[in-house]
Amino acid sequence: MRLEALRADITRLKVDAIVNAANNSLLGGGGVDGAIHRSAGPELLEECRALHGCETGQAKITAGYRLPASYVIHTVGPVWTGGEQGEADLLRSCYVSSLRLAAGHGVRSMAFPSISTGVYGYPIERAACIAVDAVVGLAGQPGMPEYVVFCCFSEEDLAVYRKLLG
Ligand code: AR6
Repeated sequence: MRLEALRADITRLKVDAIVNAANNSLLGGGGVDGAIHRSAGPELLEECRALHGCETGQAKITAGYRLPASYVIHTVGPVWTGGEQGEADLLRSCYVSSLRLAAGHGVRSMAFPSISTGVYGYPIERAACIAVDAVVGLAGQPGMPEYVVFCCFSEEDLAVYRKLLG
């Protein structure tokens, strides 16, 4: 598996699947969720309605509609409340669930946003550490994507990921 950190708008990436940092309703929101729904078009919301939400730490897959990506993997990160409410395990579970779902759909390339580190307030250094560790931990398993990109929205976030990736 090849891992890379890039600064980009995730909605523009030509990968098989992009991951959405959604909320439990899966009915859209702000941040990267809003951007993905705007770019994919109204059919995405229609498909999401039929999914009846998603638990925190879990993931569900839809088509990508007008996005360059064939699939959107919707996952729900934890809201950061200080780190004592199982946030780390839930965040790790977002990456693991998303990767397993991707593998099950034959996804060869995928992009993750920095889940939970926007509106949900997860500290970027801690979140990035979990993200990289979770992905590296699954890298050898059968069917996993060949290419995984950590798609950062800011230069600061990119620096954090690049340092971790070495
Ligand atoms: N491409 C890549 N990354 C982006 C983009 C984009 N187009 N837009 C924002 N980011 P957030 P969360 C970055 O708040 O913290 C939504 O309302 C952003 O800078 O989108 O998991 C949902 O519906 C940050 O680094 O997600 C939920 O209610 C990262 O994406 C809630 O926000 C995640 O920030 C989820 O909060």
